[in-house]
Amino acid sequence: MASPAAGGVVIVGSGLIGRSWAMLFASGGFKVKLYDIEQQQITNALENIRKEMKLLGQSGSLKGSLSVEQQLSLISGCGNLAEAVEGAMHIQECVPEDLELKKKIFAQLDRIVDDRVVLSSSSSCLLPSKLFTGLAHVKQCVVAHPVNPPYYVPLVELVPHPETAPATMDRTYALMRRIGQSPVRLLKEIDGFVLNRLQYAIISEAWRLVEEGIVSPNDLDLVMSDGLGMRYAFIGPLETMHLNAEGMVSYCGRYSDGMKRVLKTFGPVPEFSGATVEKVNQDMCMKVPDDPEHLAARRQWRDDCLMKLAKLKHQVQPQ
Ligand code: NAI
Repeated sequence: MASPAAGGVVIVGSGLIGRSWAMLFASGGFKVKLYDIEQQQITNALENIRKEMKLLGQSGSLKGSLSVEQQLSLISGCGNLAEAVEGAMHIQECVPEDLELKKKIFAQLDRIVDDRVVLSSSSSCLLPSKLFTGLAHVKQCVVAHPVNPPYYVPLVELVPHPETAPATMDRTYALMRRIGQSPVRLLKEIDGFVLNRLQYAIISEAWRLVEEGIVSPNDLDLVMSDGLGMRYAFIGPLETMHLNAEGMVSYCGRYSDGMKRVLKTFGPVPEFSGATVEKVNQDMCMKVPDDPEHLAARRQWRDDCLMKLAKLKHQVQPQ
């Protein structure tokens, strides 16, 4: 458990992602202050976290070694930003994905923080050079991009500004490990970071295969959920290469010609519009109607599956 001397964490923006971060930091024993521009959002967040944690406690899925009540006692709301950040060691910004809004928040934080706190953004795709350039505390700034839902999907991409201090990356990395997340370091920023670049490469080829009438939307999804995805939950594409031959060198020797031949047949970036949208939408809606109730139920099922997978991954720690 974190010692009280370790300092607290402040969440700026108490929506979906802010709440998840709050629960994760509390699971690691850190004091968490939730700030939001809307007082009601703080109230809703505290209620929602209480409910969620109770359910997690009942199902035996609560993270960390503290009880539900101990973890809840670590989280409080605060309607004043300057008060919230006083003595904090880490500030996790979770306001909507709007560059101007985020820049405004970081400029505000820049004026009131000390030289020790880490200023971290949850941004999914805004580059650190756009978010942090010109701040007096730029060395203390980093993007820590979580994956939804962060409580069950541990990956966090750490993306530095060109001026981010190595110590900021190291501290954030260590903090993420301490709360049970799985951080990766990008050595420099790139549009889409790594996760979304991989995700978009997959979406792009999926779309082309459906558009060209090669496979139905449902079968395309099955290729991932019952095929590639099964192993990717445990090993990545590079280790897959290594294991699928007598090591990486052997794989490249055997399969690089075939890979290059197929890769050269990949088409241009799809438009994601017109008849293909209709077609994919029709098939998706047959499976999951796109009204709020059906979507929410399917998301709940997905999150339950992810929770079980997270438990399984925990049991089968790497050799
Ligand atoms: P959200 O809309 O659920 O929550 C945003 C919160 O920020 C709201 O409570 C809002 O009242 C508050 N807010 C707005 N202006 C503010 C201000 N000036 N000061 C303080 N609080 C303010 O958004 P969500 O989904 O939680 O996303 C937050 C960030 O996390 C975004 O940058 C998003 O790209 C990123 N992210 C989101 C993921 C997702 O799947 N939702 C996944 C990974 C990252």
